[in-house]
Amino acid sequence: MKKNIVVLTGAGISAESGIKTFRDADGLWEGHDIMEVATPEGFKNNPSLVLEFYNQRRKQLLQVLPNTAHYALASLQDYFHVHIITQNVDDLHERAGSKHVTHLHGELLKVRSTIDKNVILPWKENVEIGDFCSKGSQLRPHIVWFGEDVPKMEDAIEITANADILIIIGTSMQVYPAAGLINYIPGKTPIYFVDPKPSITENDFPLLTIIKDSATKGVPTIVNSLIDTML
Ligand code: APR
Repeated sequence: MKKNIVVLTGAGISAESGIKTFRDADGLWEGHDIMEVATPEGFKNNPSLVLEFYNQRRKQLLQVLPNTAHYALASLQDYFHVHIITQNVDDLHERAGSKHVTHLHGELLKVRSTIDKNVILPWKENVEIGDFCSKGSQLRPHIVWFGEDVPKMEDAIEITANADILIIIGTSMQVYPAAGLINYIPGKTPIYFVDPKPSITENDFPLLTIIKDSATKGVPTIVNSLIDTML
């Protein structure tokens, strides 16, 4: 029977594709205070600024490509059941070929209604003031902002609770509830953590191996060693 590998990814896995992380640059995110562009209050105060901010992010996403870390994870699927739980709103895991991806914090290439969170549409263009959903309300990015519910969290907990191996890549582990997922793995699950500036230490969890390296170096190394155990 194939083992279950669960992978939790953060902004660091997409850094080498050219998408900036959130907390590496002095508290600003692409020149903006996170609270200005990633909270419901920020959107209420200045909707055009927030829409424009995500329009820029969407435009940038369409110009970048998955990197070797995204591709290495996709190659694991030949040997294991792989489920990726990502905090990222990009689609680079999907473009690299990963089939089971849960986006905890939403998706940049989708928009949703401001009056019905279940009205979600695929979207590659800019979103402007006056772009309405079928129910006549303004569209907004399909992004989970600070202070909002994380609707996919229950699914993510269930997936994590069935892990045989957990791999964590490129996350500062500062944002909850996502960072708390590590506590749901079954007792004897080995954890691999790839990050050039890891925020946890090997003393924090039993069976934790830290690979202090960038995603494009560290992830293919782990993936190859896991595949070797299957050959
Ligand atoms: N390879 C791997 N990791 C990297 C690389 C790289 N090349 N470059 C940077 N990192 C690491 C950093 O050391 C840091 O630990 O990526 C991590 C990025 O941390 P954050 O910027 O805090 O991103 P993340 O943990 O994904 O943020 C979580 O916060 O702003 C919200 O909703 C947003 O999903 C996001 C959440």
